[in-house]
Amino acid sequence: MKEKIKVNLEKENKSLKPFIRWAGGKQKLINEIFSNLDLNNIDRFFEPFLGGASFFLKSDFKHSFLSDLNPNLINCYEQIKNDPQSIFNELTEFKTPVTDSMYYDIRDEFNRHSGDQTLEQAVRFIFLNRTSFNGIYRVNKSGKYNVPFGKANPAFSSLDHLKDVSQKLQSATLSFDYYDSIEDFTQQGDLIYLDPPYPKLSDTAYFNHYTLDKFDQNSQEDLANFAKIQSDKGCKVVISNADLEDIRSMYKDWEIIECSAYRFISCKKERIKVKELIIKNF
Ligand SMILES: C[S@@+](CC[C@H](N)C(=O)[O-])C[C@H]1O[C@@H](n2cnc3c(N)ncnc32)[C@H](O)[C@@H]1O
Repeated sequence: MKEKIKVNLEKENKSLKPFIRWAGGKQKLINEIFSNLDLNNIDRFFEPFLGGASFFLKSDFKHSFLSDLNPNLINCYEQIKNDPQSIFNELTEFKTPVTDSMYYDIRDEFNRHSGDQTLEQAVRFIFLNRTSFNGIYRVNKSGKYNVPFGKANPAFSSLDHLKDVSQKLQSATLSFDYYDSIEDFTQQGDLIYLDPPYPKLSDTAYFNHYTLDKFDQNSQEDLANFAKIQSDKGCKVVISNADLEDIRSMYKDWEIIECSAYRFISCKKERIKVKELIIKNF
């Protein structure tokens, strides 16, 4: 009997939290987003602005297609999918408190190996994510990760957490690419969650330096066209975005729901409450 219960628990698809800190991450909003969606009878899920994967980690679809433009991020998911135990072992090897010279050595190493699809690079990625200033991922003009040191006593995920994430990833396909590369793979009835970098509210608010390509006003318009094409094809589409007039008018034929989240804004020390939108066609 005990054995049976154990097997059932192992099979249960848990709702999980992200194992990385990610600017614009939807962890704090995810319950509100889910409470506004009917996710029954959906087999295939696409999340092409993956980041911290808040949506995927809470969900339970038969198959998920996860992608992002950041190859180091995608490598991290790939390595956790394959070998969470080794990732955990390597992370626990780091001496704490972390010093700034140790941080900058690992940052240099990370930049030398940028794009490598290896376990070592995934470990460096998680280390930097947990010890950098505010956990943001920002690159300079030559594509080098340039976030300064921030946290001497990082909290890494537990082994159980990494194993749970790994198990959930077994039903996922990972790739690094532009979001619109999924265009020809989606089919009627699929769910697509789009969570792009947000437009600037001002010169300092919101964050859109994840990759070398900044997501500007034209990119937002292209994304709105992409969402419409997918919607016309019969896909279920949900979009997160900032509560701005421009964004509202791009999606004027869609259902728009307001929500609010505490976000770190670079000109302020504390997190402030900003309004966001959930935009959907079902
Ligand atoms: C707002 S974050 C996603 C946050 C995620 N939903 C979460 O909860 O953590 C946006 C993501 O889009 C990625 N990105 C930026 N431009 C992209 C593009 N053109 N195609 C695909 N991904 C892109 C960034 O690397 C970043 O991870």
